[in-house]
Amino acid sequence: MTDLAAFTALLAPEGQTLLAALRDYDPAQELAVASRLRRDHPAELVSAALGQARLRQRAVAKFGAEDAYRMYFTPNGVEQSTRATVGTYRANRLKALGVGSVADLCSGVGGDALALARAGISVLAVDRDPLTAEVARANAAALGLDGLIEVRCADVTEIDTSPYDAVFVDPARRGGRGRIFDPEAYSPPLSWAMDAARKAPRAALKIAPGIPHETVPDEAEAEWISDGGDVKEAVLWFGTEPGARRATLLPSGASLTGRGLPDPAVRPVGRYLYEPDGAVIRAHLVAEVAEELGGGLIDATIAYVTADTLTPTPYASAYEITDELPFNLKKLKALLREREVGNLTVKKRGSAVEPEEIRRKVRPKGPNAATVLLTRVAGAPTMLIGRPARP
Ligand SMILES: C[S@@+](CC[C@H](N)C(=O)[O-])C[C@H]1O[C@@H](n2cnc3c(N)ncnc32)[C@H](O)[C@@H]1O
Repeated sequence: MTDLAAFTALLAPEGQTLLAALRDYDPAQELAVASRLRRDHPAELVSAALGQARLRQRAVAKFGAEDAYRMYFTPNGVEQSTRATVGTYRANRLKALGVGSVADLCSGVGGDALALARAGISVLAVDRDPLTAEVARANAAALGLDGLIEVRCADVTEIDTSPYDAVFVDPARRGGRGRIFDPEAYSPPLSWAMDAARKAPRAALKIAPGIPHETVPDEAEAEWISDGGDVKEAVLWFGTEPGARRATLLPSGASLTGRGLPDPAVRPVGRYLYEPDGAVIRAHLVAEVAEELGGGLIDATIAYVTADTLTPTPYASAYEITDELPFNLKKLKALLREREVGNLTVKKRGSAVEPEEIRRKVRPKGPNAATVLLTRVAGAPTMLIGRPARP
């Protein structure tokens, strides 16, 4: 049976019964579960259902349990799909721009298409892989969004996008040997996606967050998006604010736009140290955050901001610094012993030392908590000790 035939069988009543039975199955019991189910159902259908149940469990982190257990996935599809928080944010931004229809070029299993449809946008979802397209179709139906989503199995380069208000492209960035870093090796290549974007009234291209700023064309806005502090992606927007640089932090939705400020000045470590969110750093907006905080850098090459006052900001985590010492493990160990620190958080920026190594060597013991930040202050390897600051 082909993968496509196995998948189609899962959509029939017997497949659905098996999937429902496997909803909360324990992967550690997989062999026992499989042999029990094989007594009443064909072996191939049982293994397809088990595979799908496993993928659904993995997808919960991206789509939440309610949707994940109604949706379908392929191994690549779950890996490459956009998480719902990010997809919803982008879809709402397109909606706010007045977009009513989108050509979703490289739609995968439909992570973005579903978010767009939920925002009330009608979607043409295109993927050239027949199984992936079939899975996207099943997802649209499973979530009751098939009235807004048309899935087409085709090569995106053959699609006429002129009838749509906007184009969205999420190229495949994984080859047979893992992640692809060269944007021209994406499928389709980034240059193709940019041409498609330029032809549309508006466009959004999802790209890797590590993309060099020089790759961003002048007419595009570049936005870096993090979720829960992890940078998830960058988006090139066409038809919004040419040249703009933006960092958006989910789930709050706080969004910071660049003002073209020069690098902040280096100053001595003050009472507070701020660790900017990864999206702020990737978007090169540390200067904007430093200005907001009335702070400076501890070192010209390190993205830690310091200030004497505590200013609430969504764009950085704040620490109150109690000690600043030259890097020295013995001294650190002695100081933490003296303070009875058993709960030690180690952070590092600009230091080659591994946090785990520190924890192993220092062997923290005691009822108190502390954070140690291994970094450089004006070029010198330094340990800053403190605790998360609460306004
Ligand atoms: C990163 S995934 C898309 C994920 C999707 N945005 C989601 O959230 O589920 C990229 C998809 O592009 C498809 N693809 C790559 N090159 C293509 C092409 N030339 N035409 C159509 N689809 C293509 C792959 O099959 C893959 O499913």
